[in-house]
Amino acid sequence: MIVIKEEEEIEKMREAGRITALILREVAEMVKPGVSAHQLNEYAERRLRELKAIPAFKNYPHPSGGKKYPAALCVSVNHEVVHGIPTRDKVFKEGDIVSLDFGVLKNGYYGDSALTVGIEPLTKRARQLIKTTREALYQAIKKAVAGARLGDISHAVQTYVERRGFSVVRDFAGHGIGTHLHEEPQVPNFGIPGRGPLLKERMTMAIEPMVNMGDWRVRVESDGWTVVTADGQPSAHFEHTVVVRDGEAEILTVVE
Ligand code: MF3
Ligand code: CO
Repeated sequence: MIVIKEEEEIEKMREAGRITALILREVAEMVKPGVSAHQLNEYAERRLRELKAIPAFKNYPHPSGGKKYPAALCVSVNHEVVHGIPTRDKVFKEGDIVSLDFGVLKNGYYGDSALTVGIEPLTKRARQLIKTTREALYQAIKKAVAGARLGDISHAVQTYVERRGFSVVRDFAGHGIGTHLHEEPQVPNFGIPGRGPLLKERMTMAIEPMVNMGDWRVRVESDGWTVVTADGQPSAHFEHTVVVRDGEAEILTVVE
């Protein structure tokens, strides 16, 4: 069932979204050669305590019964697509493509956002990959309006990405969000316009294109969490929590 939120609930989601965006922006600014993913996660967990918010991902149950997700932040580098664990040995270097995914629970409501930063010098193609993934998200958000269909969002991501010679990951999707991190509906990054559930005002969802430079296929590493590209080529990820509106979607994971 797709839940339509009350305006009072959306106001709480704005607060969760603000905290998500603020901390995500801060950790993104810390991405430099020699800094580790573990340091970013430690910083994020400290900021959550200061802002009296709860990490959304830490101890999240494994989808197929493995061990719970161990951190507040996901840090996925280069061929890692999503759900990378912020370990101490994951030390950034020049040329890295670093995807950061972060979620917050505040006053009973969730925020979820992701972005990818590149450490220069990058190849032109790597810079294009990041830019295309970011822009695919904004193209999709434009479709998150009352009266459209879920397939319009999915199709917008897929066409924007594939026209630029990249591919969309099919095994993972965006999702409804609210009192749970993952609610209905699933929001795939590929699909057919005009198909799927009708979008209504006050639906809230996390739209999250995961884009591969090469083939769309992925596999999961032996740690049970880290999703990597099957062909070893790099990947990028952007995500915002949004609310469907009449005319123009509202992005909740923004700082003020
Ligand atoms: N944004 C991701 C998602 O919605 C992050 C989840 S990490 C997890 O699936 F640990 F919570 F699974
Ligand atoms: Co998400």
